[in-house]
Amino acid sequence: MTRAGSLLITGSTGMAGREITRQLLTRTEMPLTLLVHDTGKALSRARLLRELFRLEPSQSMIQRIRLVRGDLGQDHLGLPGSLYADLARSVDGIIHAAATTRFDLPLAEARRVNVLATEHLVRFARGCGNLARFGLLSTVFVSGRRRGRILESERVHTAGFVNTYEQSKYEAEAMVESSDLPYVIYRLSTLVGDSQTGFTSRFTTPHQALRVMHLGLASLVPGMPDYSVDLIPTDWAAATIVNHFLDGPRTGRVIHLVAGATRSYSLAHVIDESYELLGQLDSAWKARHYPKPAITTQAAFQLLVQSAEQAKDPLMMGVLGMLKHFTEQFSYPKEFDTTNLNGADSPPHIREYYGRVVAYCLKSRWGRYA
Ligand SMILES: NC(=O)c1ccc[n+]([C@@H]2O[C@H](COP(=O)([O-])OP(=O)(O)OC[C@H]3O[C@@H](n4cnc5c(N)ncnc54)[C@H](OP(=O)(O)O)[C@@H]3O)[C@@H](O)[C@H]2O)c1
Repeated sequence: MTRAGSLLITGSTGMAGREITRQLLTRTEMPLTLLVHDTGKALSRARLLRELFRLEPSQSMIQRIRLVRGDLGQDHLGLPGSLYADLARSVDGIIHAAATTRFDLPLAEARRVNVLATEHLVRFARGCGNLARFGLLSTVFVSGRRRGRILESERVHTAGFVNTYEQSKYEAEAMVESSDLPYVIYRLSTLVGDSQTGFTSRFTTPHQALRVMHLGLASLVPGMPDYSVDLIPTDWAAATIVNHFLDGPRTGRVIHLVAGATRSYSLAHVIDESYELLGQLDSAWKARHYPKPAITTQAAFQLLVQSAEQAKDPLMMGVLGMLKHFTEQFSYPKEFDTTNLNGADSPPHIREYYGRVVAYCLKSRWGRYA
């Protein structure tokens, strides 16, 4: 892809967007426009480079970044008209990584961020005179409650969804699909951290589930023991997206970024391995002899949720509430087609780096000392 203009990145402060932006900064010379959610906090480009992207802010790097504060939920991306028009003239590629990734939001709220924001960005993109590519980050779980083989070429289904996040991302994909943009949809499984260091900028559901186990509060996990838990390294996912976005073939509009069953642990194995690693890395924890979580049916897990609600046990309600919004997925085994990933390097097997992720969670106390 030859580039004259600037690449616009949304969500560059998020888990995926940070690593994508970091790689674009270190591996290319491209000018980047970062549309950063205006949270009222003043952030200089130098601070952003140092604190978010873990880079030494050289003058040339600072000059490559255009920082724009906006809100994708607003008309015109929350930008003044002149800036909006100026961006539409200069931007020739867009990577849309902004989203809400919370599983527990009411549908209207999830849609406000994931669908309405995408609609606003699509409208902006259609006004960009030189747009060569529009990349949307999405999730393989737009497949919701489907089971079996999921093709990259299919989205539409009536199986339903496990949570509002899945549904709103499904609808965001539909929005982009129905546009006339030169789009590519990158459907990721679950990011778990850096394959070399275990670093993660956010502690998401896999990390929180590990934390619940570390607290000795995970007695039951609903699902199928042989369900393949698809986790991918953040650095691999970002590199694959960047490579494809810059040089990938135009064909293959949807790409699954997954580890696949041969590079993943089953649910039973992930629990065993997590328990084992926590014991190896934290002797005080091992000495507490917490029982290993058992795998159970969704029905038995629901009973546990109900009894915590009846007992008005706020701690257990919090823990189970967090688990229930995604563990239902462990009862819908899937195998993701990766035809369009053709030619890209495969991610490492989870066994090669999971220990580093667990060690990072422990060392940083799940973000408290990060
Ligand atoms: N993380 C995963 O394991 C995973 C797995 C599959 C797919 N994905 C997909 O990858 C993409 C990125 O996910 P992530 O995990 O990086 O998410 P994240 O860490 O939650 O980051 C979301 C980003 O979106 C920004 N944002 C939210 N609302 C915005 C708004 N109204 N205007 C402008 N910016 C806004 C956030 O900024 P503020 O924080 O300042 O609001 C943040 O930078 C999503 O599309 C997600 O579906 C992620």
